[in-house]
Amino acid sequence: MVRVLVITGAGVSAESGIPTFRGKDGYWRNLDPIKLATPEAFARDPDLVWQWYRERRQRIRDAQPNAAHEAIAKLAQCAGEFLLVTQNVDDLHERAGLAKAEMVQIHGDIFKTRCSRCHWRAELCNAHTRDDRDKSGLAGARPSIIEFSEQDGGPENGVPRCTKCDALMRPGVVWFGEPLPLHETERVESYLQRDSCGVVIVAGTTATFGYIIDWALRASRRGGELIEVNPEKTPLSRFATRLVREPAAVALPRLIDRLVAQLPKT
Ligand code: OAD
Repeated sequence: MVRVLVITGAGVSAESGIPTFRGKDGYWRNLDPIKLATPEAFARDPDLVWQWYRERRQRIRDAQPNAAHEAIAKLAQCAGEFLLVTQNVDDLHERAGLAKAEMVQIHGDIFKTRCSRCHWRAELCNAHTRDDRDKSGLAGARPSIIEFSEQDGGPENGVPRCTKCDALMRPGVVWFGEPLPLHETERVESYLQRDSCGVVIVAGTTATFGYIIDWALRASRRGGELIEVNPEKTPLSRFATRLVREPAAVALPRLIDRLVAQLPKT
């Protein structure tokens, strides 16, 4: 049984029209996203940060998963065991058909909204991915989740306030300088500790954060393939057993078709 780990970053959503963080198209209103996605920016100007996140949410809603997202979802169905760790806060992997149970959003989910002080959370009811959720099922929702929907007065302007403690609500993502979510980190660690992986694919990320390189190396620790898919060199490149210097939407379908053909039929 072949165990597979895939790690993705913003480059995988680039071909769906979603700007990357550090690429030339990453700036928003001439503001550096790296400076906007911080607790300090939110404290300084919560309204500006919310404007940025609303524009990003809308851009994601208008986008479609691309061939890279679809290829990764196909690999998940054919591998013996599979986990995707994505740094992306969009829902394109999920909309390409990858099950939530096989995915860890290590930097959070842009469609979630949470209180900046207490643990009250709200989930923006998003036309694409949450319309199958029973809208009247609030009672069935986890007690800490209420659903906003853009139609019925969700936080479509201004800065929403917590209905519990009246503090500012914020996007449910990880900002610079903030710790990774414990539950998600534990899911990655338990997958890595259970066994090594025969195939590790790292696609569309600058591998800026040490934990990304650490997870990729530990997963491929017993001679597994470590494949990097990125037109540019990264700090991970020197560890890769294979470098694919092409866009993910071009390279991943071809690469994954070949991998799937070689996988033992489970
Ligand atoms: P970056 O913007 O740092 O890097 C995007 C990477 O994708 C670069 O290495 C590009 O060369 C590559 N790339 C661009 N187009 C591509 C394509 N079509 N196919 C394949 N690769 C392509 O984005 P991330 O590496 O995801 O964290 O950034 C990591 C984290 O830094 C983000 O999750 C965010 C940011 O701070 C938080 O917000 C906490």
